[in-house]
Amino acid sequence: MASDHAFQQPDPNPTKDRGHCEETGEDTGALLFALLPPAPQARARRQVCLYSPTGHSSFRRGLLRFASPSFAGQEGQGVKSRRWSSRRARRHGDAVGMEYRDKLVLAPMVRVGTLPFRLLAAEYGADITYGEEIIDHKLLKCERVINESLGTTDFVEKGTDNVVFRTCPQERSRAVFQMGTSHAVRALKAAEMVCHDVAAIDINMGCPKSFSLSGGMGAALLSKPELIHDILTTLRRNLDTTVTCKIRLLNTPKDTVELARRIEKTGVPALAVHGRKIKDRPRDPAKWDEIANVVSALSIPVIANGDVFEYEDFKRIKDATGAASVMVARGALWNASIFCAKGKTPWEEVKREYVRKSILWDNDVKSTKHTLKEMIMHYSCLELPEGKGVIKCDTSADLA
Ligand SMILES: Cc1cc2nc3c(=O)[nH]c(=O)nc-3n(C[C@H](O)[C@H](O)[C@H](O)COP(=O)(O)O)c2cc1C
Repeated sequence: MASDHAFQQPDPNPTKDRGHCEETGEDTGALLFALLPPAPQARARRQVCLYSPTGHSSFRRGLLRFASPSFAGQEGQGVKSRRWSSRRARRHGDAVGMEYRDKLVLAPMVRVGTLPFRLLAAEYGADITYGEEIIDHKLLKCERVINESLGTTDFVEKGTDNVVFRTCPQERSRAVFQMGTSHAVRALKAAEMVCHDVAAIDINMGCPKSFSLSGGMGAALLSKPELIHDILTTLRRNLDTTVTCKIRLLNTPKDTVELARRIEKTGVPALAVHGRKIKDRPRDPAKWDEIANVVSALSIPVIANGDVFEYEDFKRIKDATGAASVMVARGALWNASIFCAKGKTPWEEVKREYVRKSILWDNDVKSTKHTLKEMIMHYSCLELPEGKGVIKCDTSADLA
């Protein structure tokens, strides 16, 4: 299992230089970040025009360097030289050769898989990190903005401060942009905007939610193999970035295998298979045997997904299915250190590191709250003071 990731344990004690506030029992380090100005400079659009990389920004960059181990080797280069133009990214890009064997993969998760969570998972050992699904229509309303202050590339809804997708060069070789679409040309237009900032584009063909189905997206695609073919071949022919898709099981194993074979024929280098059907609920056991059928029928690597909750499950699902790689969603949401071969870090520590990264990367507070609530609901209870506190929060500073 390729978990000896360069980012796996960059900072074995991320809270080591932070004090402890006796009154609240919380890290004073976290409180210090909370005391940062409410970051008008973090508003992506304005940053480009108004903020020079001096003053406040350099303080924040100092924190970023501390937070983001991959910056360590770039010490002294300055934010400008870290900027990632499309052209440079393309020259640099080896995405066409993206490797899908023996990988631990963070699954796409709406409202969870934003930049801080992806970086957190990678630090604990995830080799490939999917972002949350973003609908093509939404990306097409965005403009690509270099965020000098954070050292990120932001896709910002035009005329607003709403950051729809944020990424950074440090995750360029492993971040996957997952798109919701029902139309090949529209998908291509959207993919062209982002493809040089990420390692791969993935099409969501598994979402069973009504908004996806009614828009002909997600699992609605599963019953339209011609459209699947059209979308995947259009993207593959026109992009020099890896293109994949993630499916669910169909009603019968035969149908699933047939569809998987058609998908393989489009030339995609890998296929992620969630071992549940549209009608299944998350509590229903994932059908690893039906993923195994797909693995046996294909030559390309299959990424098996469903019911991986402990590090040991990575091997169990690989043995049971023969899959090349393993993808995990809820197991990582509840404790992102699931990717670490040495065993899990206590969830409270993981939670604190997530909040810290969310502040440093100026994550949308709604996304941070949602993720924290999921963690707390799993291990504790939202009715307890901590849960109630998170519910009341309006800003990242409140969360800290
Ligand atoms: C909070 C949450 C959000 C999700 N969002 C997405 C998504 O954006 N795209 C997608 O393809 N699947 C999404 N899924 C499904 C997961 O990627 C995964 O297929 C499913 O949870 C099964 O994996 P698990 O058993 O490890 O949780 C989401 C799941 C969860 C729990």
